[in-house]
Amino acid sequence: MIKAAILTISDKGSRGEREDKSGEVIKEKLQEIKADIIAYEIIPDERAVITERLKYLAESANLVLTTGGTGVSPRDVTPEATRDVIEKELPGFSEAMRAESFKITPRALGSRTVSGIYKETLIINLPGSPKAVAECLDVVLKSITHVLDLVKGTVEDCGRQ
Ligand code: MTE
Repeated sequence: MIKAAILTISDKGSRGEREDKSGEVIKEKLQEIKADIIAYEIIPDERAVITERLKYLAESANLVLTTGGTGVSPRDVTPEATRDVIEKELPGFSEAMRAESFKITPRALGSRTVSGIYKETLIINLPGSPKAVAECLDVVLKSITHVLDLVKGTVEDCGRQ
């Protein structure tokens, strides 16, 4: 069972000045893998706050999807905060998202998303726009279940499945 948490990282969103359409897109997409959404939060672009919420959400969720703060603006610190938390990086998730996104828009390379494992939780950064969220999740959605099966250590020979 996938227990998913959504963490929208946006200064304006956290102040109620911007509707969180990206969070809604994540909710819709998660239905495709029948994930149970157990938490949804909007927080500002503050490294320490992001780090604290990632660790907190990982106590009950085995999948945490963040959206926003992955670019190169001065306030964009989501990748740094994610690196503060993860114990094993899964670069392929972010590499695949950027590579496929680049086929759609050259702007894709302006996103620095990070993905990895903290304890038994998969954390994946997604860019901030609803369009980017949909495009990126389409790329990695099917890989999520596989990684979550492996992270528990209960699958002995994943290549045979
Ligand atoms: N990736 C995809 N697939 N589609 C997009 O439209 N937009 C880019 C990029 N990644 C985009 C994308 C843009 S315009 C920016 S600025 C960066 O993501 C970073 O966005 P963020 O800072 O809101 O996370």
